[in-house]
Amino acid sequence: METAEFETDLSLFKYDNLEQLPREYRNLNQSERTERIEAALDTLGDDVVILGHNYQRREIVEHADFIGDSYGLSKEAAATDADYVIFGGVTFMAESADIITDDSQSVILPSMEASCPMAGMAEALQVDAAWAELTAVTDDTIVPITYMNSYADLKAFCAEQGGLVCTSSNAADAFEWAFDRGEKVLFLPDKYLGTNTAHELGMSEEIVEWDPWDPESKDAMKAVHNDIILWEGYCQVHERFRKHHAEEVRATHPGANVIAHPECRREVVETADVVGSTATITETVENAEAGETWAIGTEIHLANHLDRWNPEVNVIPLCGDACMDCNAMRQIDPNYLAWVLEELVEERERNVISVDPETKELAAVAMDRMMELWPCQRCIRARYWSLVQVLPVFRRQ
Ligand code: 13P
Ligand code: SF4
Repeated sequence: METAEFETDLSLFKYDNLEQLPREYRNLNQSERTERIEAALDTLGDDVVILGHNYQRREIVEHADFIGDSYGLSKEAAATDADYVIFGGVTFMAESADIITDDSQSVILPSMEASCPMAGMAEALQVDAAWAELTAVTDDTIVPITYMNSYADLKAFCAEQGGLVCTSSNAADAFEWAFDRGEKVLFLPDKYLGTNTAHELGMSEEIVEWDPWDPESKDAMKAVHNDIILWEGYCQVHERFRKHHAEEVRATHPGANVIAHPECRREVVETADVVGSTATITETVENAEAGETWAIGTEIHLANHLDRWNPEVNVIPLCGDACMDCNAMRQIDPNYLAWVLEELVEERERNVISVDPETKELAAVAMDRMMELWPCQRCIRARYWSLVQVLPVFRRQ
C-alpha cells in the first residue's frame, strides 16, 4: 500500500494568520461589550450567523443563532446563506464548517488559540509514519477512521487511504462500514471513543493501543495481530471522570441518572444510564420529567447551561467541583466576538479559517463517506441538513 504525502507541521496552531485581541477590546466591560456586539449584529443582519458549541460560555451562547454539537453546527454552516459564519468552537469545528460551506463564505474563529488538544494528538505527519510501519507488516487492508475531532489534513489522509470520518453518534456505523471494506481499523485520535465503540460491537478483545510517543508500544507486528488499532489520544476534560464519581452521585442523590459523553473512560460509559454526544445529552435532559436528577459527565459549561435551561430538572455535574471546563473552548472570549464583528462592519475579515483547496477536497470525501452511511442523501449539504440535530435556539440565555 502506498502512503500519502502530506506536508504538515507539528505547531500548536494550525493557522499562521493568528491575530491577538487589540488593546482597546481587552478591557471592555460587560454592558459595553454586549451593546457593541448587538449593534454590530444589527448592522450585519443576515450577512452573519453565529454558531455556538454546547461547551461555549454563556456570554457566547447568548449571542448564538444556533447552539449544538460539532456535527450539528456543521449542518447549520452548510445550510446558511450568510456571508460570514462566526464559529464559537474550536479549530477543527471551524475547519469542518469551511469544508462544507461555499467558497464565497468565510468561516471566522474569533480566537485562533481555540485549539482542541485531542485533535492535536494525531498529526497527519505522525499518522503517515505509523501507517507506513503498519502497512509494511501486513497484507490485510487497514481502514483508517478519524473522529470529527481531528484536523482537516488528517481527514484528507483518511480519505486517501480509503477511510472516513465519524462522530460520537455514528462511530459504530463507521466501524461496520470499515470492516465491510477491510480486515482492520486504525482509529484516530480518541482511544476512549474507540474502546467504547469496540465494546458496543462486541470486539473488546480485538483492540490494541498505538502510542506514537512511546517506542515500546509501537510494535507494528504486535499491532496487526489485532483488528482495531487505537491511537493514543484522549480528551483530558472527559478522562477525568471515573466510576467512583457515578457511585458517589448515586449514593448522595438516590435515583439519580448518569449521562456520559463517549469520550469518557470505559468504566464510566459502562456505568452510565445514557451515553451520547452533547446533542444527545442536551436532548435527554430537555426530555426529562420534572424532579428527575441527571448527573452530567461532560464539560462543565454544558452542565451549567442545562441547569439554567431546565429549572424543573435537578442537573448536577458528575464529578462536582472537579468537573473541568475546556481550555480550548474558553479561548472564545466575548471580547474577541465584539472585535471580529466590529471588524466585519468595517469590511475587514479577521481570523478566517481557510483550509487549503486540495486538503479541503479530500477531507470532504472522508466526511461524505460518513454521510453515505445513510441512504437517500443526494449531496453533502443536504446530508448535513437532514441528519444532524441542533437545538433550535434563537438567542438563548
Ligand atoms: P460533540 O460532537 O458531542 O459536541 O463533542 C465535541 C467535543 O469536543 C466533545 O469533547
Ligand atoms: Fe477537545 Fe476535549 Fe475540548 Fe472537546 S472537550 S474540544 S475533545 S479538549
